[in-house]
Amino acid sequence: MTAASMGLHGDTSVLLIVDIQERLAAVMEEDAMAEVVRNTNILLEAAWRMGIPVVLSEQYPKGLGPTVAGLKPGLDAIEGLHTIEKTHFSVCGCSEFEPIAKTLAAQGRTQWIVAGMETHICVYQSARALLERGEQVHVVADAVIHGDRQRLLGFDAVEHPVALQLGGSDPAKLAAAARIGAEFGYDEINLNCGCPSDRVQSGTFGACLMRTPGLVADCVAAMKAVAAIPVTVKCRIGVDDQDTEIALDALADAVFEAGADALWVHARKAWLEGLSPKENRDIPPLDYERVYRLKARYPNRFIGINGGIHSLGEAEAHLAHVDGAMLGRAAYHTPDILAEVDERFYGEPGRGFDADALIDAIADYAGRHLAEGGKLGQVTRHMVGLFHGRKGARRFRQILSTEATRPGAGPDVIRRAYASVEPDAGQQAA
Ligand SMILES: Cc1cc2nc3c(=O)[nH]c(=O)nc-3n(C[C@H](O)[C@H](O)[C@H](O)COP(=O)(O)O)c2cc1C
Repeated sequence: MTAASMGLHGDTSVLLIVDIQERLAAVMEEDAMAEVVRNTNILLEAAWRMGIPVVLSEQYPKGLGPTVAGLKPGLDAIEGLHTIEKTHFSVCGCSEFEPIAKTLAAQGRTQWIVAGMETHICVYQSARALLERGEQVHVVADAVIHGDRQRLLGFDAVEHPVALQLGGSDPAKLAAAARIGAEFGYDEINLNCGCPSDRVQSGTFGACLMRTPGLVADCVAAMKAVAAIPVTVKCRIGVDDQDTEIALDALADAVFEAGADALWVHARKAWLEGLSPKENRDIPPLDYERVYRLKARYPNRFIGINGGIHSLGEAEAHLAHVDGAMLGRAAYHTPDILAEVDERFYGEPGRGFDADALIDAIADYAGRHLAEGGKLGQVTRHMVGLFHGRKGARRFRQILSTEATRPGAGPDVIRRAYASVEPDAGQQAA
């Protein structure tokens, strides 16, 4: 194609506006959003003056809201506006697109001027699909914007398998979020029915959902319908004055009927009145037997147990009764115990705990995280439990807690902190 043939012409162009919708706009930076609306209105006015057809897409408007009000007058002025309600990232992926594209092609319109939101996903996927169809595509840089999904959802490839936990109770919104999570590359979607914090209760999220198994089932079914990865649930054995024999069976029956792939049970109640989230992880008594009974009821379903498991030995004992054991605080406070997991539970060759290799790997990971705009403290805060009980561990924690949060801190802080830890006997001998 020559440069001359790339020139835009009023009688061969189409204006495509991708998903400039209320709920997406609400999470954008205000000034940038206003500019995108202003510039898209300029495009709309040009289209109106020049008789250029306009195609408007809306991604799942039931969940993400209608097109922003600021574009309404401009859109109302367009004669024969083509509106597409879509559930795919690409505009070209839905059935309504084909007849519209055919009509426009018959009019000789093959130059697509593209404006829109979620530039790196929906605009990008649409532009790519149009190019694959042999259309000419012009993305208008001043009329596109994207949200901060990478910051919220991004993870490193070494973190696989990784689950995305969602909180909520609106099946449509959870389905939209599950689909985004699946397309982002997560390996599992998990619904939180165990978190007792006030903030969460106010939004009908978390443990209070133990009271509404039917609603949880609707949420699971909605997520299963759109995400081709496992959808699982994490819950408690009950809340407040619930009878745990009835409450846990009711929740399990409902979610398995709806297609849940696993149920993880924190083996204690959540007391929603009067206890803080922290107290709710310690004070309500653990009842492992209750979870074992649930497993006996569901021999062919995956039931995992969680709560108060401190060691791999304890985890192994639980595995005689259930399918999985989840470590929360133990993994956080004494992460080195995880070094044995692959050998002990998955039959992989033992590699032992190689602290030097671990520090090299974490420093590399931190370097990648910083290069993508992250902060060192976001990595090091999860490392302070390393070397627990070893000489120099205190200094290691101190360096990480103070230096890693300073502006410009880099992976060298991790290496410096590690230098203060004395090698253990095994390493010295090696
Ligand atoms: C700081 C902290 C944050 C937590 N955040 C979550 C969370 O976001 N979702 C969740 O399902 N559980 C969360 N939990 C609960 C743990 O997953 C786990 O259920 C709980 O700590 C009990 O297990 P443990 O005794 O092995 O720690 C959190 C726990 C802690 C200590």
